[in-house]
Amino acid sequence: MAISAVYAQGWSIDEVSWELFSPGAVDSTMLAAIKAAALVEYNAPDYVAYLKRVFSNQPPEALTWIEEWGTEERQHGVALGRWAELADPSFKLADAFARFRKGYSPAHFAGNAAHSVRGSRRGEMIARCVVESGTSSYYSAIRDSTDEPVLKEVAGRISADEYRHYKLFYDVLRKQDEPELSFLKRLWVAIGRVTESDDDELAYAYYAANIPAEQELDKPYNRKFYSRLAAKTSMTIYRRKHIRKLVQMVAKAVGADPHGRLADWGEAILWRVMEKRAASA
Ligand SMILES: [Fe+2]
Ligand SMILES: [Fe+2]
Repeated sequence: MAISAVYAQGWSIDEVSWELFSPGAVDSTMLAAIKAAALVEYNAPDYVAYLKRVFSNQPPEALTWIEEWGTEERQHGVALGRWAELADPSFKLADAFARFRKGYSPAHFAGNAAHSVRGSRRGEMIARCVVESGTSSYYSAIRDSTDEPVLKEVAGRISADEYRHYKLFYDVLRKQDEPELSFLKRLWVAIGRVTESDDDELAYAYYAANIPAEQELDKPYNRKFYSRLAAKTSMTIYRRKHIRKLVQMVAKAVGADPHGRLADWGEAILWRVMEKRAASA
């Protein structure tokens, strides 16, 4: 069994062994996936502002961990963007990000409401656990599937961060002085967040990252098409074991047995849905 490096928290961009970059090992489908992921990660400040509103009536420590979390997510965008710029010198993170921002801004980021779109801080933390389960599994899958040494390292570092983020949100969830949500409600929030993964964010990031500005007129944005294309791309990266891990982490967040029957069903259903979406692209 291959043993992957264990990366500590608080790494910096300069610690990455950029000099080992191997252009011949870049795969074009993987490159498309990384460009899109860079935009989503780089957009972290919007999530920071939103989470700060949700936690505005909480002890000041909340603001500190939210800021630290946001700084790490933003750095993921910088690292992935730098790798993509190395792999494709015509790609510019700043330009692609500007186009992404112009075309994507979800309603809950725009307002000033101090409540979570998930109904409560507990609900918000379950949704965040789902996202971090997804990202930690996704970057593990990228690390496992690429032969390009720098991307392997960057994905390994990011995946370790995402796992720590999951633990952070899981701990925050358990500390909330709100009434406990029923199991069905927790499950509902989690399933809602999983299915939302097909919202505009990923699809538009894929579009802005991979369709050059000069081709926008010829290839206008089509949500369904780019959402399926993004799904197809990620299915070339994922293996079943990564989805199993994702579902186990989500199961734990909602208070179900990560090795129980519900998690087994969840894994089988999610894998099937992902395969179908990829096949429809
Ligand atoms: Fe991230
Ligand atoms: Fe994260």
